Amino acid sequence: MNGMGTLYGVGVGPGDPDLITLKAVRVLRRVPIILIPQSTDRPSVALSIVQRWLRPVRQQIVMQPYPMRGAASELEQARLDGVFRVCSFLQTGSTVACVTEGDPLLYSTFIDLLERVSDTLPDLSVEIIPAVSSITACAAAARLPLARGRERIAVVPAEDAVEELETLLQRFETIVLIKVRRVYERLRERLQSLQLERHAVLIQQWGRPDERILPACEMRSAEDLSYFSTVLLSKHRTPEVARCGVR
Ligand SMILES: C[S@@+](CC[C@H](N)C(=O)[O-])C[C@H]1O[C@@H](n2cnc3c(N)ncnc32)[C@H](O)[C@@H]1O
Repeated sequence: MNGMGTLYGVGVGPGDPDLITLKAVRVLRRVPIILIPQSTDRPSVALSIVQRWLRPVRQQIVMQPYPMRGAASELEQARLDGVFRVCSFLQTGSTVACVTEGDPLLYSTFIDLLERVSDTLPDLSVEIIPAVSSITACAAAARLPLARGRERIAVVPAEDAVEELETLLQRFETIVLIKVRRVYERLRERLQSLQLERHAVLIQQWGRPDERILPACEMRSAEDLSYFSTVLLSKHRTPEVARCGVR
């Protein structure tokens, strides 16, 4: 025992509040301090998922600002503030649960927090609660198998993938493109020029009331896209978008 609290990284799934694990709920009901990252330009999805499990009378709910845009120095300061806050709680013996959309160790802001807090407090006890990720959720929504047998799958931020699509398709049967909004128009052009339109499906806001599943090239512009948009591209399969619809 070192007198410090434990740091939990709690994944809460990608949107549908029913898709949180029992273990995550148990931790969220027990831990005295719940830290929820709050992007400054949209309401917190993580909060909407966990709200019904929290007990504000007995727990301290901390909304931690996590801006995604702005000057590098401001973004860095926001991250440092989060690390400082979490370290202060832990050092005074309080256990903290940091909530993450999807899985906490997959493209999550929690990774940065975890690494910095662990550097500051090397003897810290940490527990990660894994979760359903948006990748498997999107595949389920599009009824698109991600991989079977010896097939290979790549998960790539779209920004890095647009120019490399042909190379990726030589090596992987399925490509999951995340964070597509910023490069949507370029990605659509590329898919069209490679005649891959029928092999790509776009899943937007999975598990939320405004969920949409549609052929990946169908959006008019990136402005119509949410940040929570993923494209699944399959070398051999054609997603049956018409059968998916809205659940
Ligand atoms: C920073 S990553 C977070 C991934 C998350 N940790 C996970 O395990 O799903 C954000 C990207 O994940 C994808 N994503 C997350 N939630 C989504 C959802 N509900 N529907 C579609 N895509 C989603 C989008 O591509 C989005 O740009």
